[in-house]
Amino acid sequence: MKVFVVLALALASVSAGLVPQALPVRPRDRTSTPSITGRITNGKNAVADQFPYQVGLSFIGAEGSWWCGGSIIDNSWVLTAAHCTSGASSVTVYYGATVRTSPKFTHTVSSSNWIQHASYVSVTLRNDISLIKTPSVTFSSSVNKIAIPAIASSYSTYAGQVAVASGWGLTSDTSTSVARDLHMKVLIVLVLAIASASAGLLPQIAPLHPRDRTVVPSINGRITNGKDAVADQFPYQVGLSFIGTESSWWCGGSIINNTWVLTAAHCTKGASSVTIYYGATVRTKPQFTHTVSSSDWIQHANYVSLTVRNDISLIKTPSVTFSASVNKISLPAIATNYSTYVGQTAVASGWGRISDCETGVAKDLQYTKLTVIENSVCQKAFNSLIVTSKVICVATPKGTSTCQGDSGGPLALNGTLIGITSFGSPDGCQVGEPAAFTRVTSYLDWIKANSGVFA
Ligand SMILES: *[C@@H]1O[C@H](CO)[C@@H](O)[C@H](O)[C@H]1NC(C)=O
Ligand SMILES: *[C@@H]1O[C@H](CO)[C@@H](O)[C@H](O)[C@H]1NC(C)=O
Ligand SMILES: *[C@@H]1O[C@H](CO)[C@@H](O)[C@H](O)[C@H]1NC(C)=O
Repeated sequence: MKVFVVLALALASVSAGLVPQALPVRPRDRTSTPSITGRITNGKNAVADQFPYQVGLSFIGAEGSWWCGGSIIDNSWVLTAAHCTSGASSVTVYYGATVRTSPKFTHTVSSSNWIQHASYVSVTLRNDISLIKTPSVTFSSSVNKIAIPAIASSYSTYAGQVAVASGWGLTSDTSTSVARDLHMKVLIVLVLAIASASAGLLPQIAPLHPRDRTVVPSINGRITNGKDAVADQFPYQVGLSFIGTESSWWCGGSIINNTWVLTAAHCTKGASSVTIYYGATVRTKPQFTHTVSSSDWIQHANYVSLTVRNDISLIKTPSVTFSASVNKISLPAIATNYSTYVGQTAVASGWGRISDCETGVAKDLQYTKLTVIENSVCQKAFNSLIVTSKVICVATPKGTSTCQGDSGGPLALNGTLIGITSFGSPDGCQVGEPAAFTRVTSYLDWIKANSGVFA
């Protein structure tokens, strides 16, 4: 296993505003910053008609919008990435543009016009491909299709060959948006799930990672520098072993009722079933397990993987009997306004990776105390598009943080669930950047409406 970092190369637009249709909102697209002489990051400006097969795609989702590229492969089909179409309701296709905001023409189509690969898995970026059906376009010198390779019995790997990539994306890691007048950072999301090695399934109960206990010399804890939990310390913590069509991954979750577990949407997304591990301290030794299929969970309808919006899912489970080692955690009581919890100390737990150097999830349940910080501080580390008011962040001093495998797991304060582990820095879990959680108080009504559970 390697560190699981996903760099989505789409660009979300600032705030929840829509990308204006065809309007030249970014008049400075053509200006380059002094240190940057090209595009794509050290690329070259294209001349008119150089890439007639390139389209720009302005996607609109329920709570945000983002920009991607695509390729015309036929006069009514555009090929793009599944992580671009995922979570969008419509797209405006920009044809024949060299200056991004000056296309020859545009077409807007809704999500019913695209075919996203049915086995796209955001956690592992499997099958990251979508087809968009468009109105028929007339080809010209500036709008034309690109050939796709002929179907054959075997294909070149193309290794060592030189290919050309084109697009209007960020021009450097330090530039702030497609255009400089919008304040955007590179959109990098590190989801804190952990995928299992290769396409194999996570063995049920069997200890998959025999080296879980080996610790690199400089690291002496878990969760990244956390502590070992003792038996029954976190009875609300469950382990979740998800199975997708082509891979499997590990997440955490919280018991909020004897028939409901709360976790992250990026954990349930793309999975067909999950085995829930109850009452475990050693990950592979639960008191019991239940396996349920995707029809038993409710993933937030407006979850957007690109911006990690609404990263929350409910899993309906068979009724479990509570004990010292298996019990629920309280939700905050529904109220008209909620504490921000800033400055308070909360506890995160999970079997996630215990250091940036580790290769598997931990054997023993880990926990760490973390202090809630202002969202404005957290926005500086990520950006305001990702860190909305529905996110809660903690500081990670001395490399103590949540890490891969902790996703979906609890952030608890005084016996109440206030966060669901969601994302962290792409630079690693130990670099001192804040860790981010879905803010539970923002979803109490959603939880109540979908499960009947509330306090
Ligand atoms: C809720 O709002 C009221 C009025 O603005 C304020 O007095 C109170 O402190 C708030 N409560 C919390 C928990 O923030
Ligand atoms: C913690 O919860 C208990 C009871 O649930 C309450 O009495 C106490 O005031 C809470 N402490 C804080 C710091 O919120
Ligand atoms: C679970 O939720 C249901 C519906 O709100 C409620 O009737 C039941 O008492 C809850 N059970 C527990 C153990 O909280």
